[in-house]
Amino acid sequence: MSKRIAILASGTGSNASAIVDYFKNSSDVEVALIASNNEDAGVLSMANSHHIPTFLIDRENFKESTEFLEYLEEFEIDLIVLAGFLWLIPEAMVKAFDWRIINIHPSLLPKFGGKGMYGQKVHQAVSAAGELETGISIHFVNQNYDEGKVILQEKISITPGDDPKNIAAQVLKLEHHHYPRTIEKVLASL
Ligand code: GRF
Repeated sequence: MSKRIAILASGTGSNASAIVDYFKNSSDVEVALIASNNEDAGVLSMANSHHIPTFLIDRENFKESTEFLEYLEEFEIDLIVLAGFLWLIPEAMVKAFDWRIINIHPSLLPKFGGKGMYGQKVHQAVSAAGELETGISIHFVNQNYDEGKVILQEKISITPGDDPKNIAAQVLKLEHHHYPRTIEKVLASL
């Protein structure tokens, strides 16, 4: 039986797209669900165009009840993949999916992580700090933002004060390459 993943995303979903493309002909892995807390998120239209079931998350079904968690269980989800998802994962979900929730962050954690550190803010901070390298971190998710055990980090060299947009484009390319392949490895170890 193929392993089933649920992708949670709040925005464009370019990583979600890369994951969907990577597994589209796979008989081992299926993107079974795409969920978002933002009804206008590009990721939901992408899911619709691929006929992937979607779920709209709100405070009530995500944080104040176990409705979404039960839905994931009914859907027999093996791994939850966060791809630009901005809400903290509730404790009940972290417990139910122990070592089965992963996230990608566009910096070399623990640097430039934590609450409020997302999107361009990360790359602006990296540039302003005069870093000589940056990259991506793929990690397991626990109760705190960006603190779970790191699974993979990949680096690129940058010049101090590099344009954050330029850094962002290079980092995103790394994400699209490594995230699907890392998901595949994590699933193989479940
Ligand atoms: C990525 O940079 C990812 O590392 C971060 O959020 C961004 C999502 O981008 N967690 P996209 O929606 O996949 O294009």
